[in-house]
Amino acid sequence: MTSVSVLAVASEIFPLVKTGGLADVVGALPAALKEHGIATRTLVPGYPDVLKALQSAETLLHRPDFYGGPIRLLGGRHDGLDLYALEAPHLFARPGNPYLGPDGRDWPDNGIRFAALSRMAAEIGQGAVSSFVPDVVHAHDWQAGLVPAHLHYGRRPRPGTVMTVHNLAYQGQFSPEMLAAFGLPAESYTIHGVEYYGTISFLKAGVQFADRITTVSPTYAREIQSDQGGMGFAGLLRERSEVLSGILNGIDVSVWNPGTDPHLATRFCAEQLPARAANKAALRQRFGLDPSPDALLLGVISRLSWQKGLDLLLENAQTLLSEGMQLALLGSGDRDLQDRYQSLAHANPGRIAVVIGYDEELAHLIQAGADALVVPSRFEPCGLTQLCALRYGAVPIVSDVGGLADTVLDVDEAAVAGGEATGIKFGPVVPEALAHALRKANLLFNDKVTWRRLQHNGMTTDVSWHNRAGRYAALYRELAATRRDQSIIGAD
Ligand code: ADP
Ligand code: GLC
Repeated sequence: MTSVSVLAVASEIFPLVKTGGLADVVGALPAALKEHGIATRTLVPGYPDVLKALQSAETLLHRPDFYGGPIRLLGGRHDGLDLYALEAPHLFARPGNPYLGPDGRDWPDNGIRFAALSRMAAEIGQGAVSSFVPDVVHAHDWQAGLVPAHLHYGRRPRPGTVMTVHNLAYQGQFSPEMLAAFGLPAESYTIHGVEYYGTISFLKAGVQFADRITTVSPTYAREIQSDQGGMGFAGLLRERSEVLSGILNGIDVSVWNPGTDPHLATRFCAEQLPARAANKAALRQRFGLDPSPDALLLGVISRLSWQKGLDLLLENAQTLLSEGMQLALLGSGDRDLQDRYQSLAHANPGRIAVVIGYDEELAHLIQAGADALVVPSRFEPCGLTQLCALRYGAVPIVSDVGGLADTVLDVDEAAVAGGEATGIKFGPVVPEALAHALRKANLLFNDKVTWRRLQHNGMTTDVSWHNRAGRYAALYRELAATRRDQSIIGAD
């Protein structure tokens, strides 16, 4: 097997910087790819936490003036990851959320910050670091969207490019006046370039110029080519459908392993389901929920945004209570949703409890202690929490969209089409359909044998990266072979 080298580029990476599933994917994929003969290095912004982790890193490049200030490119290892960090104090020496300032708004220079990251990636792709010249550059989400554009307009030869869309809702749009400041040539501002409804869109640039486009589930790959799901990109994605594919995410099964997880009250496996009870008790205690032995305990771990459909669950508070269920929610995001959940918890002590915030350890305990995990998303490119839920024996109750549709097999669906049911799905994404799903969950929960089977099926489903990473490896190999044939040189 010839070895193929890949430079991944992203704005987040677990365990150093994380706001959502993007970080999990970028952090877990390199180890899984290694098993397929792919050597990955990942370029990330030099945020304070990244620089702290790379204290003994080597300086590979420095420039006195790169997008408005002096920079260094650092190379080092952390937690098994081969990292490059763009140390640029004027752009990234800001603690906290990687995108938002202390006022909770996007930093005004986000365009420049991520144009610089993308430019550095393109330069590495063109051989700026002689010890590592990648065959392929893999750009994740809009923050890396200019990589394929910089390479398209740059020197030849160039590496192959892959653009992965983790979420089409975030398009990285900026004023056209910024074109030169982003380092893009005047001719790039056309409908066949980076122009997008009168703005510059970094995601559009990536989708337009990448050799291959991927998204994180096959169903989402189809949905985004429809006018309804395409969020303005449907036409372009349909035009490029021959190079677009959906590759399901996996999870890091060493981080998410109920048999070894340090954050649980008791560790367990599929053959020891009764041991979960201690985690349920610990979860109830942590959230201040009543110890009602027969109540189905629902868990939620989520960003609170329109995408996640959690307003539908609020609208179902009465159903939940009248069914005798309990709810433990961990989330943060929209002020309005946070406030509404807090008021609901206040009005129903012992039955509904909410932790507003971001807490990685508590997320593990919820997965291990909740009977079911609710994910009522309006759209979901893949979703990782339902995969963790499967692995931890929390039965997923999900809307029938995107990656949720691809990773959960509903009881009724399994009865018709065969296969082992792992959860409950509902559609359309409206409160009544969720109400129906909640009632169905309660019925199944009361049939202990069926419920155990659902949990067991989930826990024995393969949610790891191993096979899924193989799809990326095949894509990289195809691109690397083309590159070796030199046909990418001057081809665009
Ligand atoms: P998205 O990336 O759209 O937010 P995913 O389901 O792909 O959704 O990934 C979310 C990731 O973030 C999961 O690892 C989940 O456990 C984690 N997560 C989300 N909200 C919280 C929270 N409030 N506290 C801890 N972890 C969270
Ligand atoms: C995005 C999507 C989520 C996906 C994650 C990782 O944040 O919203 O569905 O799982 O990226 O690909």
